[in-house]
Amino acid sequence: RGTAEERADLAGRHVVVSAGGTREPLDPVRFLGNRSSGKQGFALARTAVARGARVTLVAANSELPAPAGVDVVRVGTAVQLREAVVEAAADADAVVMAAAVADFRPAVYAEGKIKKRKDAEPEPLALVRNPDILAELSTDRARAGQIVVGFAAETDDVLANGRAKLARKRCDLLVVNEVGESKTFGAEENEAVVLGADGSETPVPRGPKEALSDRVWDLVALRFP
Ligand code: CTP
Ligand code: CA
Repeated sequence: RGTAEERADLAGRHVVVSAGGTREPLDPVRFLGNRSSGKQGFALARTAVARGARVTLVAANSELPAPAGVDVVRVGTAVQLREAVVEAAADADAVVMAAAVADFRPAVYAEGKIKKRKDAEPEPLALVRNPDILAELSTDRARAGQIVVGFAAETDDVLANGRAKLARKRCDLLVVNEVGESKTFGAEENEAVVLGADGSETPVPRGPKEALSDRVWDLVALRFP
């Protein structure tokens, strides 16, 4: 296989990667968020650059510094992430959605800080759905032959849930990993199974997030028209 430099198999390709986790503001000081660190998405960006790609990384609320040679677009909410990814995807050969996108956002944003009222119980929090970016990218491909990849973290029935999700989202590849209290979030290593729309199943043993990233790019490169 050789080194990344020897196998510049992504040269001339533009790839888009989303990373991190969206935050959905409730008021000027509060948000609904998730535990995604952005490490997997940043590793995908670094490995793609090493293999010769032009990379756009849409990073949601990640503290990580911009990797060398990567065009980073920083966003906050799911709606902002959608806009940035859809724009970057217009001329992309592949899009990898590694970001943890909030499924819902508060139905209303309070312009002023929400105060607790004396002796009153809190109001229930009303939520509305966010756009499903992966399903949208997969269903309305910006270019013929564009490869779309999703990530899914599951706690139970990992493979069955992954297969159903792949079919529902209509992406080409879905990277499924099992999560729990101490698994994956913020960790340096990852372990996954990559499911293909063609029925393929590629297990990736526990290892650095770079190793999983390289396996994902291998599978993407195989699918380029
Ligand atoms: N995703 C997305 N837009 C959303 C939600 C998820 O693009 N509004 C993407 C994620 O970036 C990921 C994939 O879809 O690549 C799977 O996310 P996941 O949360 O596992 O899927 P959901 O359809 O939201 O299913 P669940 O009900 O299990 O959360
Ligand atoms: Ca979700």
